[in-house]
Amino acid sequence: MNAQLAIAIDGPAGAGKSVFGAALASALQAICIDSGIVYRAVTWIAITRGLDPDHDATLGPVAASMNLQIIPPTVQDGRQFTILIDGEDVTWELRTPDIDRTVSRPSALPGVRSAVTEQLRHLARGARVVMVGRDIGTVVLPDADVKFYVTATPETRARRRADELHARGQEAVVADILRSIIERDARDSGRVTAPLRPADDAIHLETDNLTVDAEVAFALDVVQRTLRSANALETNDV
Ligand code: CDP
Repeated sequence: MNAQLAIAIDGPAGAGKSVFGAALASALQAICIDSGIVYRAVTWIAITRGLDPDHDATLGPVAASMNLQIIPPTVQDGRQFTILIDGEDVTWELRTPDIDRTVSRPSALPGVRSAVTEQLRHLARGARVVMVGRDIGTVVLPDADVKFYVTATPETRARRRADELHARGQEAVVADILRSIIERDARDSGRVTAPLRPADDAIHLETDNLTVDAEVAFALDVVQRTLRSANALETNDV
């Protein structure tokens, strides 16, 4: 089960990519890398250090050199990982509305993107990995074995994000989240470098009426069929 494998999962804000990615990775005995965490970490550093979130010459080097660690959960409070920056637990601080509002600005900067892309490729090299983001199938891992593009209507995505915040005891107004999600989607899709868009060979998954279990069952079937036909091709080649 340690054969190299790369699965790319992309899609807009709140489409359920992270939960789906983690569940699929677990079923495939792969590691799950959520690339949004890295862009959120750059944004957190920019905000806490008072740096300009639109200044590539400042934030590119930050992205290349930051001390970010993603480790198994150290607290049982619903988190999938514990995230440390310079040893400080910032797991939930990366998910505040302030970060949500700002994150697509550093994410649009070419220097930030190339630093993050290089680190993500390094992590995936030779590994068995499910990687989640916006540009994984198009830019980071264009040769991924299988690519999924996960979507849901903006209303469903806003409701899910509000449910997540409520589950953590935070206040959330669905209409405000909806507005923030629509703005972030527009910025992520409209940027020049690595915009959010499905790869030409991505399999689309509309999740409005699907449970995570159903998504994973569908995805596992696709992965298994793809790998079987790739193996068959290789065998025929010999
Ligand atoms: O969880 P959610 O879908 O709301 O966001 P996320 O996956 O944590 O990503 C946060 C932000 O990081 C996105 O809105 C993008 O601006 C940026 N991002 C990106 O540009 N490229 C990626 N591969 C992943 C995230």
